[in-house]
Amino acid sequence: MNGDLVLKSEGIDKWFGGVHALADMQFELRGGEVHALVGENGAGKSTYIKILSGVYQKDSGTNVYHGREIDFRNNLEARKAGIGMVPQIIELAPQLTVAENIYMGVYPTGRGGNVKWKDLFEQAAETAKTFDMEGMIRMKVAELGTGHRQLIEVLKTLIYDTKIIAFDEPTASLSDEETKRLFDLIEKLKAKGISIIYVSHRLDELFRIADRVTVLKDGAFVGTREIRDVSKGEIVSMMVGRDLNLFGTDTRKEKKSKEIVFEVKNLRSRNNVNGIDFTVKKGEIVGCFGMVGSGRTETMMAVFGEGGLDEGEIFLKGNKVDIKSPLHAVTLGIGLVPENRISQGVILISSIKDNITLPFVNKLAKKRAGFIDMQAERKIAREYIAALKVKTPNEDTNVGSLSGGNQQKVSIAKWLATRSEVIIFDEPTHGIDVGAKADIYQLLRELSDEGKGIIMVSSELPEVLNVCDRILVFRDGKIVHEYRDTEGLTEEEVVKYALG
Ligand SMILES: Nc1ncnc2c1ncn2[C@@H]1O[C@H](COP(=O)(O)OP(=O)(O)OP(=O)(O)O)[C@@H](O)[C@H]1O
Ligand SMILES: [Mg+2]
Repeated sequence: MNGDLVLKSEGIDKWFGGVHALADMQFELRGGEVHALVGENGAGKSTYIKILSGVYQKDSGTNVYHGREIDFRNNLEARKAGIGMVPQIIELAPQLTVAENIYMGVYPTGRGGNVKWKDLFEQAAETAKTFDMEGMIRMKVAELGTGHRQLIEVLKTLIYDTKIIAFDEPTASLSDEETKRLFDLIEKLKAKGISIIYVSHRLDELFRIADRVTVLKDGAFVGTREIRDVSKGEIVSMMVGRDLNLFGTDTRKEKKSKEIVFEVKNLRSRNNVNGIDFTVKKGEIVGCFGMVGSGRTETMMAVFGEGGLDEGEIFLKGNKVDIKSPLHAVTLGIGLVPENRISQGVILISSIKDNITLPFVNKLAKKRAGFIDMQAERKIAREYIAALKVKTPNEDTNVGSLSGGNQQKVSIAKWLATRSEVIIFDEPTHGIDVGAKADIYQLLRELSDEGKGIIMVSSELPEVLNVCDRILVFRDGKIVHEYRDTEGLTEEEVVKYALG
């Protein structure tokens, strides 16, 4: 770390209509440091990064970069000046190749301006070596999983003579292995004197890679600390303004019911589902743990009528059901909060109200002879906005203008509102701040107390161990172990089964 001040931001203000996204924000960055930026959903982290990288323009304040005031008009200008960004929500062109995406806007061209394709692919192959992805450069981005897409966003920043790279929740959809690679890369960038702004809700990560941390709350600066002088608990209380008991206390009465609400028998699909059997009882929260690729998500998609079920039987409240499509599953009373919520879960150009009430508009309509009951819709939307503390001016705001984490919350609310008998949550707390995580755990318990059967797919062991009544461990498309009781269970033990 050379320690010189590379960037100093003072008095940054940004308004979106009536929303004060940044209020007198301050921040500084030294050469070769990893400076984490944390705060609750909607605190203004992404807005700040987007201002630095030219996506948005500030209303007032100053950003001084290498002694010069900056105010980029667009992202390309920022990248050319050495400020790169890996966005929270992936913005690649799915129908173009990996190579074209990496060099978007700066293709190598000949004298007549025609693209030199051979050079493009050669350069891309070289760049892609960073993550052993050189074999993928001719593939379309649409063919790749989220992890690889995220890594392409990283590669895009590496092709310039970059001085600052801002990562906006880069690990949200990376596997442990990919995360480790990203951290190795960050170490290398640091060694070259490149400064990193690192946004994450996974506070454990800060202790692995950050030198300092700055906390934002409601768009305003709370404080900056050296990582070695601060504890996780202190960061959390700076973020939420109070001490927090993340997992709360479990006061449920229904969790010991014997009644089975949901059962699958010998589920098989070509998509890595190799003979799955399990049951869910009334009021039970069943955790599904496993490594990326262990078949958890594929199993849930098969159950939900998505992704082709080849064999197996599904029973809802003892009755055999033949689920033909996700819509059919919803009608039967099965809900699924997908992992990839922003692309599958919400409609960005619609309001919060319409998103939340969408899956059950039919039911509301039936009540009133074909007319949608607007008052009822509004009431339900407001209830969930309050329960999940969605940060928004009102229920008519478009989901697309919410912060990333608040979009996640709307997607969760949408499925809670369907009032299904069985609800599957795939990674419900990805991208969600610690305060809201606690709210979501509480909500899961309330649903359980109402007698719903709940399935929670999660890669975060602390939440699996603390929230679930029973744990199924997945590996190679099978359930390799079941814990009927989570009392005294350790993370190491569960991981042992997951790894085999
Ligand atoms: N394009 C926009 N139009 C209107 N409001 C916006 C827009 N972008 C952000 N906001 C609002 O600004 C505030 C800050 O949002 P921002 O995305 O910066 O939060 P964040 O800290 O990144 O949160 P998260 O952890 O959920 O990603 C939020 O209230 C959000 O709704
Ligand atoms: Mg954000």
